[in-house]
Amino acid sequence: IAKELKNELEKIDDYQSFQNLKSKYLGKNGIIKSLMKNLKELDEEQRKNFGKNINELKNIIEEFFEEKLIILKEKERLLKEKESWIDVTIPGSKRKIGKISLISKTIRDIEEIFVGMGFSVAEGPEIENSWYNFDALNTPEWHPAREMQDTFYLSNDKKYLLRTHTSPVQIRTMLSNKPPLAIISPGRVYRKDELDATHSPVFHQVEGLFIDKNVSIAHIKMYLEYLAKKLFGDKVTILLRPSYFPFTEPSFEVDISCIFCEGKGCNICKNSGWIEILGAGLVHPNVLKSVHYDPDVWQGFAFGMGVERIALLKYNVPEMREFYKNDIRFIEI
Ligand code: PHE
Repeated sequence: IAKELKNELEKIDDYQSFQNLKSKYLGKNGIIKSLMKNLKELDEEQRKNFGKNINELKNIIEEFFEEKLIILKEKERLLKEKESWIDVTIPGSKRKIGKISLISKTIRDIEEIFVGMGFSVAEGPEIENSWYNFDALNTPEWHPAREMQDTFYLSNDKKYLLRTHTSPVQIRTMLSNKPPLAIISPGRVYRKDELDATHSPVFHQVEGLFIDKNVSIAHIKMYLEYLAKKLFGDKVTILLRPSYFPFTEPSFEVDISCIFCEGKGCNICKNSGWIEILGAGLVHPNVLKSVHYDPDVWQGFAFGMGVERIALLKYNVPEMREFYKNDIRFIEI
């Protein structure tokens, strides 16, 4: 009987069959119990022997079941372990996290450079009164320079418009502050340009204004060369080329030397060795007068740059549209 049980036990490996087997041998109607029943029919001597044997058998059987139970439990434990096993050596999956756009990053970089030189950051509305956007900046309605910046007007009388540059912030700041002052004005600006590789009807500018006594072109050179070196590297130098803006006199276009893109293709400035990054000049006396500053006492310089253009050059971005497409591959640069 014990041998048979051993065979049967070997074949099973789940609790249900274990229980079935157990009741077959040790249960109420099990083999041991039925052997016990037979005892009654034997005489005393035989009963003693037989009883002893049955008890031994019972002990052996119980032992077998105990052993088997241990094996089953161990098996279950191993299975559970396998299911909940964690390989701590597998590299973790990389999570995507948000990134600041190149435009915001460039604006912050420029702000940081000027704040470090004592400038404050000033902001103003994107919907402007044309007086702030043009008239106060020496650009009355008849002035041909108004056409330099093709404007989105918001009213038929051309009184309200989307600002074409952040220069109106400078007018607002001068009207509400006394000189001397040094500010930069970052922000969104609008012009009727078709979206193409280098233009967008909405883009960003950082303009700057510095008002003090005895301000000269030497100040422009010093501040803007510092800006260029901080943005594009220490080897970069700047070139002032004469230009025209109604609100500055004299006016310049400011180039940086193409050293900054050496080894990076430099496609954009193949020929001359210089590339334009901003406009600048000494504040026109008429602008100072329109905010009631005395031009015989106060002078100033102003400058303005397109943020997309700076980012395009600095990060070697092939075209303006990339900034607005939200293409993940681009954003991850
Ligand atoms: N406001 C000019 C523009 O939008 C830039 C500029 C600002 C030029 C200040 C000279 C001085 O193009």
